[in-house]
Amino acid sequence: MRNVYNFSAGPAVLPKSVLQEAADEMLDYKGSGMSVMEISHRSFLFQSIIDETEQDLRILMNIPDDYVVLFLQGGTSLQFSMIPMNFMRNGKADYILTGYWAKKAYEEAKRYGKINIAASSEGDNFSYIPDCSDLEIDQDSDYVYMCENNTIYGTKFHCCPNSHGKVLVNDISSSFLSEPMNVSDYGMLFGGVQKNLAPAGLVIAIMHKDLISDTVLSNTPTMLQYKIHADKKSLYNTPPTYNIYMVGKVIKWIQSLGGLEKMKGLNERKAAVLYDYLDSSSLFYGLANAGSRSLMNVTFRTKSDAVDAEFIKQAEKHGIVSIKGHRAIGGMRASLYNAMPIEGVQHLVDFMREFENSGDYYAK
Ligand SMILES: Cc1ncc(COP(=O)(O)O)c(C=O)c1O
Repeated sequence: MRNVYNFSAGPAVLPKSVLQEAADEMLDYKGSGMSVMEISHRSFLFQSIIDETEQDLRILMNIPDDYVVLFLQGGTSLQFSMIPMNFMRNGKADYILTGYWAKKAYEEAKRYGKINIAASSEGDNFSYIPDCSDLEIDQDSDYVYMCENNTIYGTKFHCCPNSHGKVLVNDISSSFLSEPMNVSDYGMLFGGVQKNLAPAGLVIAIMHKDLISDTVLSNTPTMLQYKIHADKKSLYNTPPTYNIYMVGKVIKWIQSLGGLEKMKGLNERKAAVLYDYLDSSSLFYGLANAGSRSLMNVTFRTKSDAVDAEFIKQAEKHGIVSIKGHRAIGGMRASLYNAMPIEGVQHLVDFMREFENSGDYYAK
């Protein structure tokens, strides 16, 4: 029985129909007498799954032909090392610090070169996206790094930074397939699939073919070289086969709803239900600056930690789970990924209103 609304930031809610289809195919995939989990990654059956998934992703995101799609492992965090190891030629890069994950990527990159902070909102606890329309970028910088949607702080870039012609590298983990993007604005887009696409264990990287080269930092392990994975079409070693199969199913689900423009509209409607309530509430308030708000992760709180804790406890009894904010910011966070139905957001807001009107929190 799925009797809860799961607001987890990731691993996160998946479309019910996709889970049902996967369950139906669990014991016997297309008459093979085997589960997808059991078939060889070198088999014809799996080759069709990975080819179709890549092809469907290319169509859905309108990925130009001169971009390569890679299915990788090691979580999004391993990209924080692979990016400098593969892209550093002059030993310099620029990072835009807008949250916890961008800062982690920056700290990791410092191990490999001279890293400049092109813009940052850290001084204001990452509550907004800084103006990136005229960044000061070093002439020799190898790339400019950004994180599109800040899962923990609930902020999002609403326009592309001006990197002055330098390659833009964008972590899209928590906004992947939530709306259309112009892929060619970026040298590389990458993200873990565990929020909007599939179970945890797979990273998808989409990069311009010119970025893929034999020239990488010395001692870069074979497994951490993009060229190795590109040359072998993501089958250098055993890939996470089941996750790739699940991504394929989620893409087809998005297609069935009408594609990314439709997805964006649905996501805007869902987020508006919660933001509108937050803007009218006298108990709860949103943590992200209005112009930087994320559609995927909505952060909010009350003025009291004790009231927040009581709200989280009571919410759980009402089937609202994983609503606790990240420890870096506290309060609450509702992740409204693609698979969260609008009824779930309405249920949350109804309960927030009930909690606020009950006055239970006055004693805290
Ligand atoms: C935007 C973003 N980047 C990176 C990560 C780290 O992902 P992983 O745990 O797959 O390394 C997360 C995890 O939540 C994230 O939200």
